[in-house]
Amino acid sequence: MNVWRRLSGPRRALALAGAGALVAGGLVTIPVTAAHAATQCDIAYTSNDWPGGFTANITIKNVGDPLNGWTLGWTFPNSGQRVQQGWSATYTQSGSQVTARSMSYNGTLATGASTSIGFNGAWSGSNPKPTSFTLNGVVCNGGTTTPPTDPPTDPPTDPPTDPPTDPPTTNPPGAKVDNPYSGVPGYVNPEWKAKADAETGGSRISNNPTAVWLDRIAAINGTPDSSSNGAFGVRDHLDEALRQGAGYIQFVIYNLPGRDCSALASNGELGPDELPKYKAEYIDPIAAIQGESKYSSLRIINIIEIDSLPNLVTNTSDQAGGTVMCDTVKANGAYVNGVGYALAKLGAIGNVYNYIDAGHHGWLGWDSNFVPTANILKTAAVASGSTVNNVHGFITNTANYSALREPYFKITDNVNGQSVRQSKWVDWNFYVDELSFAQAFRNQLVSVGFNSNIGMLIDTSRNGWGGSARPTGPGATTSVDTYVNGGRIDRRAHLGNWCNQAGAGLGERPRANPETGIDAYVWVKPPGESDGSSKEIPNNEGKGFDRMCDPTYGGNARNGNNPSGALDNAPISGAWFSAQFQELMRNAYPAL
Ligand code: GLC
Repeated sequence: MNVWRRLSGPRRALALAGAGALVAGGLVTIPVTAAHAATQCDIAYTSNDWPGGFTANITIKNVGDPLNGWTLGWTFPNSGQRVQQGWSATYTQSGSQVTARSMSYNGTLATGASTSIGFNGAWSGSNPKPTSFTLNGVVCNGGTTTPPTDPPTDPPTDPPTDPPTDPPTTNPPGAKVDNPYSGVPGYVNPEWKAKADAETGGSRISNNPTAVWLDRIAAINGTPDSSSNGAFGVRDHLDEALRQGAGYIQFVIYNLPGRDCSALASNGELGPDELPKYKAEYIDPIAAIQGESKYSSLRIINIIEIDSLPNLVTNTSDQAGGTVMCDTVKANGAYVNGVGYALAKLGAIGNVYNYIDAGHHGWLGWDSNFVPTANILKTAAVASGSTVNNVHGFITNTANYSALREPYFKITDNVNGQSVRQSKWVDWNFYVDELSFAQAFRNQLVSVGFNSNIGMLIDTSRNGWGGSARPTGPGATTSVDTYVNGGRIDRRAHLGNWCNQAGAGLGERPRANPETGIDAYVWVKPPGESDGSSKEIPNNEGKGFDRMCDPTYGGNARNGNNPSGALDNAPISGAWFSAQFQELMRNAYPAL
């Protein structure tokens, strides 16, 4: 694992913090048949508001006939709402009615294609989102057709022309539930539970669901000899989940060619050119097992490839601290095509749910990283024959330490006329914590074409930051720095620190539907498992020694040349680290 953020400077573009998404039209789009060919549309409208002003982003999806020029129309609910300056369309407003006309370059929209437009606006009183849109005069309903009252008497004359491209799996694509975490108990990994129970006080938390990491090909059948994995294979875990009566089980798909390209601690077994092996010997066998009908009652959740796609955005060698390995896997398509393949193969199974890794706020919270990462996630989601329908959602903060909420300062706070964004800690980021980031990133993902019902997960396994060092109120208002540093609960030396952080505690216990847009708080990184060794330890798992795990290291450009903040005497990544487990329990928040 490696997580960091790009060195920053003032960012121009607007943040989407706190943006709410509104979708006009259904989530399920039924293709309109030729006989009923017509204009039809699905609109996502998000707005980011501040006193008196806002930025709106609108994604227009054409779910009807191909279009050659379009006019989008809506009525603002409130007479004080005005469009001031727009982009990607020509706007006119008369009273509360607005029309946005396509430009020469975005007027052509094939069936299924989307385009995004937006504007800066003004409001007074309140700024409710418009609830209904028209495209070329037709009210958008997402393409759902009202069933005819009289059932047609003749069977449809045209048989479907395209056979499905994926070979049928044992469990055919079915109606996936909206939130697989909702209303059912999670699988408790008995191998993690045994380690936790062996610790003094560990039984207080050992009944929580944690993810099973498939961090090498051998993990599919179980790895009795490895220090960082268990003897249970995928089938053993699924059988045990059935025995427990669990409703969901979580796996981490983590074995891309050239894995962990920007760091050393979690380098894996596959070289950057081994995409064929990744597909045939890793993804295919996992899909075969997850697709067995015996397991069709379980909601099988796959967390897809931690850190991989964000690394392609921020950690290529033309950037401070970037690496040649990230250049290689970007240039040869190993990550994008590997992720696309995993999504397509696993997403074809009716009871399987894919969530792709989406970094964390201390990495992607600047627009220069936020926007390109959403775009590359989209590129991967439609690579290797996949579609966005194979993506159920995204996860942030996996195995990281970013606070869920910073209770004592907000991104909009000012001290002596300076924004907290100018503090050393925030460093022009648009987000101060994971919850605000995850909700805003969700909106961005929908705006680039992911389904509007995607849900976010946040890994809260180690982001509690409780214990005696936790501030109990805001910092002194002497300067933005005293204010932020005195009040922040995240006690790291720098947001780019990611390895075995001293002072961290267990975060929120796993639970479903905690906040708008968030499917669940989850423990994907099993607490007690190391992020990397604090000195070189020879091993046969491909794990390197990364100095970000060495407490004596003074840092580099990627963590602002700060100390690593890592605990000493750590074993290789994935191996049990008792001292860290004990500290995580001591500093848990909520406390145990
Ligand atoms: C790290 C390790 C991996 C382990 C995982 C969960 O990423 O590299 O082997 O399974 O953490 O602890």
